[in-house]
Amino acid sequence: MEQYIVKGGNPLVGEVEIGGAKNAALGILAASVMTSEPVTIENLPDVRDTAVLIQAMESIGTKVERIDRHTVRVNASSINSMTIDDGYIKKIRASYYMLGSLLGRFRSAQVALPGGCNIGSRPIDQHLKGFRALGAKVEVSRGMISAETEALVGNHIYMDVVTVGATINVMLAATLAVGKTIIENAAKEPHVVDVANFLNSMGANIKGAGTDVIRIKGVEKLHGTTYSIIPDQIEAGTFMFAAAITKGDVMIRNVIPKHLESISAKLIEIGCEIEEFDDCLRVVAARRLSNTQVKTLPYPGFPTDMQPQIATTLALSEGISIVTESIFENRFKYVGELLRMGANIKVEGNTAIIEGVEGFTGAMISAPDLRAGAALVLAALVADGFTTIDDIKYIERGYEDFPEKMRQLGANIEKVETDRDIQKFKLKVG
Ligand code: UD1
Repeated sequence: MEQYIVKGGNPLVGEVEIGGAKNAALGILAASVMTSEPVTIENLPDVRDTAVLIQAMESIGTKVERIDRHTVRVNASSINSMTIDDGYIKKIRASYYMLGSLLGRFRSAQVALPGGCNIGSRPIDQHLKGFRALGAKVEVSRGMISAETEALVGNHIYMDVVTVGATINVMLAATLAVGKTIIENAAKEPHVVDVANFLNSMGANIKGAGTDVIRIKGVEKLHGTTYSIIPDQIEAGTFMFAAAITKGDVMIRNVIPKHLESISAKLIEIGCEIEEFDDCLRVVAARRLSNTQVKTLPYPGFPTDMQPQIATTLALSEGISIVTESIFENRFKYVGELLRMGANIKVEGNTAIIEGVEGFTGAMISAPDLRAGAALVLAALVADGFTTIDDIKYIERGYEDFPEKMRQLGANIEKVETDRDIQKFKLKVG
């Protein structure tokens, strides 16, 4: 079984390069099948979620040529099916973006119900409501969602909750609808803006992405483009907290500092120094950090995808901290693992009450989901002794070369498969 083994204790020092945003990439890949002309996507992160979506796109006849590790050329001129029921697709959340893109282009789409991280019930009612408002007949049966219509017509849609997924999905379909669509209470995340910019570069007419009202004038068809995906806000944030928790000094390169403001603000509040440059940030933590209160919120609030990383850091900070999760109801599953490493955390409903301890001890732990898995790696980086982390498949869904990048900053971490590998690692690092 593949695991990470970590020997804690080294402060992270040096430079790390952030890749393209996974969540933007998923929307952009799905959108790339909306034209029959070739589309080149650059700065595509090489992670499992993007690989799975590409496989699903190929399963319906899309040609995806890898130019290099981070560039693909998509040619969707010979799509021969509107049904995505690939076994793998159920594993990723963003499979549902193929509903919006295929419905937009072909007025018909059937996609297996999405999977993804088990961090709550994750309903898709707002996606379906949006498609219905555009005139599609939508049905869910036997594990498949199907959406169909003769004519997709623009409409005024009010989202009952702020949702990234439904905002992107409805935007995809509405791009090729007849007439004007207004999405109110839209999500404002950087990846929503990136997908809108990508669609506009293909000839779409979308205004207001990044605000809570998105206005889309439907166009008849989209054309080919070459587009580079924005840097990953959450990968960057994870390395910022890795610098903080290990009392390190890390220059995080290829980021958009504006997207990281809520994260930088919290790090400064608990005692880190942050130096901001045009496209990089330096995070320095010289002493034990202090406590705070934080509540996850839609952008520009503190991201739910950074909640496990900040909670883990606060578990070693001085005093009592309160972390409230307001987006997903099941996002504290990593707390049990941290308790095994010596943390003192009580979870009551959607709130974690954290009493900072002086240190963690190494343990055998499992990643319960993607971001929680990354947070547990951060815990292992500072734990006394060795930690092994199972179920790293979750981490690999969203982080490219995670152990390699950590090692480059001085961490003792390796991906291992056998007991022999573990023994070898232990001998090497002593
Ligand atoms: C996306 C991100 C995920 C991130 C999340 C919140 C991708 C692939 N994933 O997930 O990493 O944690 O945004 O920033 O981009 N909801 C409904 N009905 C719906 C849709 C959502 O009630 O139809 C609720 C959800 O249960 C949740 C909230 O809305 O409480 C936000 O969910 P949403 O923003 O849609 O998350 P995802 O798009 O699934």
